[in-house]
Amino acid sequence: MGDTCRIELDGTPFEFPVIEGTENERAIDISKLRSETGYITLDGGYGNTGSCTSAITFIDGDQGILRYRGIPIEELAEKSSFIETAWLVIFGKLPTQADRDRFATMLTEHSMLDENMKKHFDGYPTNAHPMAILSAMINTLSAHDPEVWEADDDESIERAAAVLMSKVRTIAAAAYKSSVGEPIVYPRYDLRYAENFLHMMFSKPYKDYEPTPAVAKALNLFLLLHADHEQNCSTSTVRMVASSEANMFASCSAGVCALWGPLHGGANVAVIEMLQQIHDGGISVDEYVKKVKNKEDGVKLMGFGHRVYRNFDPRSKILKAAADDMLKELDIHDPLLEIAGELAEAALSDDYFVSRKLYPNVDFYSGIILRAMGIPVNMFTVMFAIGRMPGWIANWKEIHDDPKGRIYRPRQIYVGPTDQHWVPREER
Ligand code: ACO
Repeated sequence: MGDTCRIELDGTPFEFPVIEGTENERAIDISKLRSETGYITLDGGYGNTGSCTSAITFIDGDQGILRYRGIPIEELAEKSSFIETAWLVIFGKLPTQADRDRFATMLTEHSMLDENMKKHFDGYPTNAHPMAILSAMINTLSAHDPEVWEADDDESIERAAAVLMSKVRTIAAAAYKSSVGEPIVYPRYDLRYAENFLHMMFSKPYKDYEPTPAVAKALNLFLLLHADHEQNCSTSTVRMVASSEANMFASCSAGVCALWGPLHGGANVAVIEMLQQIHDGGISVDEYVKKVKNKEDGVKLMGFGHRVYRNFDPRSKILKAAADDMLKELDIHDPLLEIAGELAEAALSDDYFVSRKLYPNVDFYSGIILRAMGIPVNMFTVMFAIGRMPGWIANWKEIHDDPKGRIYRPRQIYVGPTDQHWVPREER
């Protein structure tokens, strides 16, 4: 018999099991709390609540550890590719050569959009935000391919995953093209995942874009580092929607909406805006740090802090090195990167940030990398969504495959008015 947790409520003792994960994380299993005691727990922001058990990603925020299916992110960043890592995240093991070949073929075969879908792009205003287009178009995809609603076994789920991962890249590039009033570019069958995206983003009818190996490598790394991050806001949203047995595409489309917010995927945009504001306004780094510490107008050091990491975000270390390498190779001198470096140095030696354990997160450097690739700022969160797709699919699959799965339905403590009555309009 394992450990138990004893609590006393209204003078009556109760016992609940303590469960332990494979990395020794411990939790009190309160699934019978309400039925046995009539009480619920209250945990605004879910900082102490485990919403599920999961075998996909492990994070130790205090030590700055991130592993996908047990493999450290540093090893994957050095040795793997985005597509191989995506398959690992979704299916739980490294793909064999046959798995890789089959998945790569499916990605290529599904890269084009149905010609009828192109009409939808015409309906958006030219300045429409690409995240709005992306979430709507992912749902539209399922209307064009009802087979994905039925995805049930590993074979059909693999096909649906390939359709989604391949087409999300085509949709993202098409959303950008329509936002700048240029014709949509068709995918090429001879290009790999990251190169093909860059081709669809930047080729023009009169000029093919040939991505340099340095840019393709950095994009591949960016996507790999974003592939999953356990129960964050968008992934929890995907699981919530999936728990109603909604299809993979509907669930992932909801994930895109959750990612849009500036406290989540939108933070990489906020970082660049902050750096630009410091640069354009001639504000010194010390002055800005002072504003942050004084909490002037709620100003925060964007790209710093994380709900889970109370140490360096391991992804930010890898991205910082990649950003340095890429800018050197392309001979780009970005004043914003210099400001970012000075800000990081100032914050990491300042007691305000040190005592609160605020370190650079993944967004602090991802904006710099994307900017150097020529990706416009309003596409940054879209890039995050393309990278996160494997994690959302894997979490959808985990819910789908769980024989004991129940619809997610949290409770609340009601604090509104009690026992009111309707009053005729003239008496209000
Ligand atoms: N700049 C200045 N102060 C900060 C920052 C920051 N970036 N982040 C947290 N703090 C302060 C808080 O004001 C609070 O101070 P207090 O103790 O004086 O009240 C303390 O640090 C603790 O912060 P919380 O708000 O409790 O941290 P929480 O876990 O709720 O929030 C979050 C995490 C949202 C990431 C926060 O750190 C933040 O807003 N950071 C900037 C936005 C950002 O970079 N988001 C990207 C997150 S990573 C991702 O989604 C991929």
